[in-house]
Amino acid sequence: MNILLLGSGGREHALAWKLAQSPRCDTLYAAPGNPGIADHATLAALDLTDHGAVTAFCEVQRIGLIVIGPEAPLVDGLADSLRAAGFAVFGPSRAAAQLEGSKGFTKDLCARAEIPTAAYARAGSLGAAQAALGSFGLPVVIKADGLAAGKGVVIAATRAEAEAALAEMFAGQFGTASAEVVIEEFLEGEEVSFFALTDGSTIVPFGSAQDHKRVGDGDTGPNTGGMGAYSPARVFTPELEGEAIARIVAPTVRAMKDAGMPYSGVIYAGLILTREGPKLIEYNARFGDPECQVLMLRLESDLVELLDACAGNRLASAEPPRFSPDAALTVVMAAAGYPGAPASGMPIAGIAAAEADGAKVFHAGTALAQGALVSSGGRVLGVTARGGDVRAAQAAAYTALGRIDAPGLFCRRDIGEREVARETARSAAAQ
Ligand code: AMP
Ligand code: GLY
Repeated sequence: MNILLLGSGGREHALAWKLAQSPRCDTLYAAPGNPGIADHATLAALDLTDHGAVTAFCEVQRIGLIVIGPEAPLVDGLADSLRAAGFAVFGPSRAAAQLEGSKGFTKDLCARAEIPTAAYARAGSLGAAQAALGSFGLPVVIKADGLAAGKGVVIAATRAEAEAALAEMFAGQFGTASAEVVIEEFLEGEEVSFFALTDGSTIVPFGSAQDHKRVGDGDTGPNTGGMGAYSPARVFTPELEGEAIARIVAPTVRAMKDAGMPYSGVIYAGLILTREGPKLIEYNARFGDPECQVLMLRLESDLVELLDACAGNRLASAEPPRFSPDAALTVVMAAAGYPGAPASGMPIAGIAAAEADGAKVFHAGTALAQGALVSSGGRVLGVTARGGDVRAAQAAAYTALGRIDAPGLFCRRDIGEREVARETARSAAAQ
C-alpha cells in the first residue's frame, strides 16, 4: 500500500526508515519531511493545517495508511478530517489528543479514574492560582494547560519563583496555552517514557526509554525537547510495566472509550517511578522524540503491520511487537543557541562515515542549501547505535558522532551515563 507520513523531525526520520523496510509499503510519501527522510520517501510540500489539501493528496496518491508524527496536527483534528474522508489513520482524534493538548483534561480524567498522579489544582486566573499555591509544598510544579513545545513547565524551588512563573503565564507567555494553568505536587523519582499502542480497546506495550531533557551534562541548564535517549529503561522492570498498564494506561484507555472519545494510536506515558510505584506526570499523543529513534532501532517487527492494525481496530489479532534485547542509544546534536534561538545554516559533513559501522544518523532540523547539508533547526541530528548493553550502544554512538564534521553543533557527552553506572555496579556485584 501507499503510505503518507506527516512531520519533519528526527522521530519522523526514524519512522520513515522503518516504514520503508516493510514489504507492505509500496510508495512512502512524507510531508513536509526533511533531507534524511527523502532517502526513504517521496517528499510532498503539504501544509498540514490545510486539511483539504492533505485529503486531496491522499485521494490522488491512493494512500492506504496515514501516519501522523507530531502533536500539533493531532490536536488540530487532522486525523478526524482524514477519517471522515474514509482514510485509515494512525493517530488519535482531536478529542482523544486532549490527553496531550490539555493538562487539565488529563488531570481531571486521572482524578475520576483514580490513576496515580501528582496532586494538582487547575486555575483560570492569577488570583485563583495564587490562592491554590498555598496548599502545595516546595518545590512546586507550574504548567501551562495547553501545548507549549515542551517549554510550559516550571519547577519552582521557592514561592517567589512559583509566583513569578504564574504571573508570566497569565500575562500571556504562551498565548492561549497559558490562559489556564495546572499547579502540581513535585514527584520524586526516576523518569521513564513508556509507550503502548492501542486501537481504543486492545493495549499492546511498545517499549520503554529514558530521555535526557536538560540541555547540559549532568542534567543542568534549561529543559529541551530531549538531548538523547536510550532504550530499554531497565529500571522500568516487567513488574513496574505491568503495574503501569493496570493502574495507569488501561484505566485511561477505558475512560476515553467510555467518554465517547476512543483513543487510537500510540500513547506515551511520562512516568515517575516513585517510592509508591509509577505515577503519571503527562501523556503525549505521539511517539517521543528522540525516544522513537531508539525504539525503531530495536524494533524487529513490521511497523506497517502494527500501525495499520491500530488504525483498523485490529490490534487484538496482530502479532505482538518484537524488540531486540539489545540496547539502543541516541545522542542529539543541536545547533548553538538551542533551546533558545538556534543558529541555522551550519554546515554538516561526515554522515556516511558515521554510519560506516552500523550506526544510524537520523535527521531532524536539516536542510539542503545549494546541494550542501546544513542545519535548519534546534535539534539537528540524532546519532543512534545499538549494542549488547547501554555501555556498548553508548560507545558506538559516540564513536559515530566523532566522525561527523559540524563545528556549529553541540551535544551532551553523558547520554546513558546513569544506566552505564548501574551496569558497572551490576557486573561488579556479579563478580
Ligand atoms: P512535562 O512537559 O509535563 O513532561 O514536564 C516537563 C518535565 O518536568 C518532565 O519531563 C519532568 O522532568 C518534569 N516534571 C513535570 N511534572 C513534574 C512533577 N509533578 N514532578 C516532578 N517533575 C515533574
Ligand atoms: N522527548 C520528549 C518528548 O518527545 O516529548
